[in-house]
Amino acid sequence: MVRIKDTLKDISHMATVRLDQKKRALVRSIPLSFTRALAQYFGGGEKNVALAREQHSAYVQALKDAGIHIKVIDEDENHPDCVFVEDQAVVIDGHILLPVPGHPSRVREQPPISKYLREQLRKLKIRTCKMGGEGRMDGGDILRLGDLFFVGRSTRTNERGIFVLKELLDWLGYELRIINIPQNALHLTSISSTPTDSIILTAEGFLKPEDFGILPEGCRVVLMPEEEVYGCNTIGLPGNKVLIAKDYPTVAQFLRSEGLEVIELDFSEIRKADGSLTCCSIFY
Ligand code: GLY
Repeated sequence: MVRIKDTLKDISHMATVRLDQKKRALVRSIPLSFTRALAQYFGGGEKNVALAREQHSAYVQALKDAGIHIKVIDEDENHPDCVFVEDQAVVIDGHILLPVPGHPSRVREQPPISKYLREQLRKLKIRTCKMGGEGRMDGGDILRLGDLFFVGRSTRTNERGIFVLKELLDWLGYELRIINIPQNALHLTSISSTPTDSIILTAEGFLKPEDFGILPEGCRVVLMPEEEVYGCNTIGLPGNKVLIAKDYPTVAQFLRSEGLEVIELDFSEIRKADGSLTCCSIFY
């Protein structure tokens, strides 16, 4: 275990890996208590757990079909949101940051995830660190574009949490840019994603290209229509594949025009709990 200054008690990695690093992913099964999962943004409506589980299985299968090795952690009935593992750990180049999640009901979801990642990454001689004190952060607020990182300042991620992430990224030699998340959105990854290492996909009415600052040469922000904001959460995968949510035709058409193989998944039940595609996995 490594200490990076006083704010990082112990380092493990978060959920932000480059396309070429995507080989393994951790997911977590959906509990029956998912009916009570938090839902304040995209979410709402009665959740059908059986259907949510079916949609989650199709998601896991799509990752497997793309050659990703999957580890499934058992659901925890005491934690209705436990399927959303992305928020619980951030993996950067094999280093793990274990944040204190921003919603009190989600803080105790982390132990089995951190235990598994630590075991796996220890074999790779990788370091872990844990956020302490007043810092709060959900992994869903972090976005990586190649070697450039963005963090959302949101209802879940505070200044202290951002400071701790910045310390880790400074130590690794990466730049971090802060983006204010609009009130009508949960996380940065609820409204944007990087389907490739050169494209940031986001939506009108939520973020503007200038929010991301000047990007490295060859990189760009692509704006989708406001009504397709949920579709802006994508998972780029090796082999020119990209997972997207079903029923976002402008997103699908754009990604196809970029030469990507688009795999559409029905995430209607998971969306009811404000969950998007990236929320349900941690690549490590
Ligand atoms: N329902 C996901 C979250 O609010 O964290």
